[in-house]
Amino acid sequence: MTDKSKGVAAVLSALKGNDLVSSADLSSSETFSLLELAKQLKGGQRRIDLGNRVLGLIFTKASTRTRVSFQVAMARLGGQTVDLNPQLTQLGRGEPLEDTARVLSRFCDVIAVRTFAQKELLDYAKWASIPVLNALTDLEHPCQALADFMTVQEEFGSLIGQTLAYVGDGNNVAHSLMLCGALLGVNVRVSSPKGFEPNIQVVQKAREIATNDALIEVVSDPLEAAKGAQALYTDVWASMGQEAERAERMKLFKNFCLDRKLLNEADPRAIVLHCLPAHRGEEISSDVIEGEASRVFDQAENRLHVQQALLAAVLGGL
Ligand code: CP
Ligand code: NVA
Repeated sequence: MTDKSKGVAAVLSALKGNDLVSSADLSSSETFSLLELAKQLKGGQRRIDLGNRVLGLIFTKASTRTRVSFQVAMARLGGQTVDLNPQLTQLGRGEPLEDTARVLSRFCDVIAVRTFAQKELLDYAKWASIPVLNALTDLEHPCQALADFMTVQEEFGSLIGQTLAYVGDGNNVAHSLMLCGALLGVNVRVSSPKGFEPNIQVVQKAREIATNDALIEVVSDPLEAAKGAQALYTDVWASMGQEAERAERMKLFKNFCLDRKLLNEADPRAIVLHCLPAHRGEEISSDVIEGEASRVFDQAENRLHVQQALLAAVLGGL
């Protein structure tokens, strides 16, 4: 192991046995170290074999990237996953979460949970004796943000002082971008329609934990948010669970599309990010998501590398 790898392992050893329910659960150095380990795993400089450890996946919402990247990450670490779809387990018939979490802790080594309420995730973390990872809630998407900033780092070499502009719904993805960006010294500007701004408590938390003078800003004009930014980001206007509001949101969000006009305001080297799945012609124009600035598929791939790093850290495999 190189000295750099030893330094990363020393920092990440503090995560052994920990939950990740929020991007703010990590320190700045832990976040940087996870990105470094992910880079080494991606580049083939590091291989980690955890032995036959088991990840349980409790997903109450649809998923392609998060589910598959967790499954492949665990396989690459020499472990396996168990699919605990609530429709197929006793959870779907009303078995209490408290009992489920304690039972699963006897079989699995770590659990990833995708659910609606953050409170439900916190309850899993409370009752399980093994690490519980946030695979997306209505409040946050911390694994996504790690992959997003890994992609920015790959493009520009460094993160501190860069600016990411997020345009659209002030949702789970926006929240984790603000918190994770703050820890990494990245300025994060969020521009949302009136009434759809990010949660003020999350904004305040991001400002509290910001390092390297990172600015966390909420602005009303998307063009102002994009000005000079190194990364432009958007996400769906109606998240899972908000399908009934979709038609109304289409009208309210129409000036918040990541299109060529917005891209022209950014740094000429700017990259375009989207957590996917995307709706072309709604939150992002087809030419921009398919254009030369788009890094959305590198970003999706990086989910695998950051989650492999995270699993290795919480399972103490470094
Ligand atoms: N970006 C993301 O989390 O995708 P999935 O919903 O497919 O997991
Ligand atoms: N904000 C979106 C993200 C999907 C990955 C949702 O919650 O549906």
